[in-house]
Amino acid sequence: MNLLKKILVAQATVLALWAASAQATTHEEIAQRIKPIGVVCVQGDECAKTVAVAAPAASAGRSADDIVATHCSVCHVSGLLGAPKVGDTADWQARADAQGGLDGILKTAISGVNAMPPKGTCSDCSDDELMSAIKTMSKL
Ligand code: HEC
Repeated sequence: MNLLKKILVAQATVLALWAASAQATTHEEIAQRIKPIGVVCVQGDECAKTVAVAAPAASAGRSADDIVATHCSVCHVSGLLGAPKVGDTADWQARADAQGGLDGILKTAISGVNAMPPKGTCSDCSDDELMSAIKTMSKL
């Protein structure tokens, strides 16, 4: 009888510990899931220092190749959905000619056309960055 009691107590203890640790993980997971995507920092705040240092570096440091690789190549390498292919200068040239030059197709790239999404999904790309990506892909 005494032994049976001990076994039951041991089992109850294991169960309680398991429940407690399961609870802890869940709380952490929930906190992770509901944490804000970004933080708003006011200049002068402690947190603003990291943002001020990190933000320009993130966008200024990317090359045309980086932009193409990250945003454009998924469609423009294979010619997905009729996209002009990287290196198919004739196709790019014909498009540029039809729209008054590279500036013309830059405008279309910014606004998007048919299956080509606005800014080619690089929503934080500047016009210059988009132009450099277009030049890289078209070799024009
Ligand atoms: C989801 C696929 C997709 C992505 C991503 C994409 N494009 Fe395109 N793009 C297309 C398609 C499809 C066309 C052809 C649209 C048409 O003429 O119907 C196109 C056409 C273009 C054109 C020619 C527009 C014209 O006037 O003929 C330019 C310039 C262009 N893309 C630039 C870019 C740049 C720069 C990026 C990356 C920053 C990019 N695209 C990302 C699908 C894509």
